[in-house]
Amino acid sequence: MTFEKHILCIGAGYVGGPTMAMIAFKCPRYKVTVVDINPGRIAEWNSDHLPIYEPGLDEIVRATRGKNLFFSTDIEKGIRESEIIFVSVNTPTKTFGAGAGMAADLQYWDKTARQIRTYATSNKIIVEKSTLPVKTAQAMKRILTSEANGIRFDVLSNPEFLAEGTAVRDLEKPDRVLIGSTQTPNGLRARDVLVEIYANWVSKDRIITSNIWSSELSKLVANAFLAQRVSSINSISALCEKADADIEEVARAVGMDSRVGGRFLNASVGFGGSCFKKDILNLVYLCRYYDLKEVADYWEGVVKINDYQKDRFLLKILDALFNTLADKRICLFGFAFKADTGDTRESPAIFVARQLIEEKARVVITDPKALKNAMKDMEGVAGDIAYVEDPYVACEGCTAIAVMTEWRTYAALDYERIYRTMAKPAFIFDGRNILDHRKLFEIGFNVFPIGKPSLTHF
Ligand SMILES: NC(=O)c1ccc[n+]([C@@H]2O[C@H](COP(=O)([O-])OP(=O)(O)OC[C@H]3O[C@@H](n4cnc5c(N)ncnc54)[C@H](O)[C@@H]3O)[C@@H](O)[C@H]2O)c1
Repeated sequence: MTFEKHILCIGAGYVGGPTMAMIAFKCPRYKVTVVDINPGRIAEWNSDHLPIYEPGLDEIVRATRGKNLFFSTDIEKGIRESEIIFVSVNTPTKTFGAGAGMAADLQYWDKTARQIRTYATSNKIIVEKSTLPVKTAQAMKRILTSEANGIRFDVLSNPEFLAEGTAVRDLEKPDRVLIGSTQTPNGLRARDVLVEIYANWVSKDRIITSNIWSSELSKLVANAFLAQRVSSINSISALCEKADADIEEVARAVGMDSRVGGRFLNASVGFGGSCFKKDILNLVYLCRYYDLKEVADYWEGVVKINDYQKDRFLLKILDALFNTLADKRICLFGFAFKADTGDTRESPAIFVARQLIEEKARVVITDPKALKNAMKDMEGVAGDIAYVEDPYVACEGCTAIAVMTEWRTYAALDYERIYRTMAKPAFIFDGRNILDHRKLFEIGFNVFPIGKPSLTHF
């Protein structure tokens, strides 16, 4: 079969894999290849056990793999054969040198640009899928065109707004697709090529275009706004606990104002995930770079409140368990940073588990999808840590349960059965407010939700 377009994606991660699977699924006339420097990851994409868990992903990969979707380590061939190249490599926070702990580490990005320049033999449209600091497209263009080899590279920005756990749904029915380009005739032509790809399944009114810097910046700002809502409600949860108010009642009353809206107002132990913190810090760094101190401090506050919320949760456990956790078994319900994913990057559970071990507690971790990642995250932490798949078994002999992830299955467990097997007095710290607190209290638990009065038998 001859394909109408050859699309390449460099980076087969949480973004590259699902986004390309969706393009292949919706556009059978295009050949889509995903490459990565990590051969293990590519082997997993080619196996029955995909490297990431996303509801609905197995089905679309199964429907397309080997037909018009291919996973490979041959980056050179991939670059040569494609006319459109998405770049979806990781852009973590820098851990060294200038801007350490804040700025984006662009080494993978830079290397990819050089690889493209080395292997390209024809004109290419390069699409930034990774989340990047504003003005990265300019750097990319400079690297690509630094050798006068007569090849034209048009760089577009097309940030990805999918949320892990709902990636397939988000990709199939996106709120919007954003495409930023330079406003030159070549830039606009490249933009239109990308618009046409998405128009295979996304209605045109949801495909928005902008200048390239606005597009790059919009992704950072979108994540900053989302995280800001979480930190806003979490900051008020602390006040609710002091003032005998109930955060869910407050959130409902506030969220029903159509100017505010009710979504993303769930108080919790704090946000996690690979993006929110890194992207806000990146924004903060950019503001500092441009000498906008007040703006930088404002956004940094979102990360500070998140750290504060995680600290508060841990201190609440310590305080409720009579100021000593030594030798007490504490079960963490969930380790993923959110439900419906196995991803644990920046999960609040990592922080809580490590702090519990510092306090000499014995930690039992259970999670339906994230135990493998949890083991990696806790590698090298000296202490008593167990990983147990079955939550009923995990709780046996524990003094406390801390709900870290809002997996629906935890709300449906038989807590009378669980209570019987736990040490007494038994405690539940609901870091996601997903359980029936009154019922748990009646069973005999001492219950500590977020942003609501605790229910104790003392
Ligand atoms: N995870 C999300 O929910 C999400 C959502 C929107 C945007 N993003 C952004 O998308 C980008 C990718 O995120 P991710 O979560 O998919 O990261 P990831 O770490 O899961 O995947 C990145 C992949 O790129 C590969 N890679 C790195 N350098 C390479 C190179 N030179 N050649 C080939 N492959 C290379 C890595 O081996 C890795 O498999 C980041 O910038 C992130 O901020 C992520």
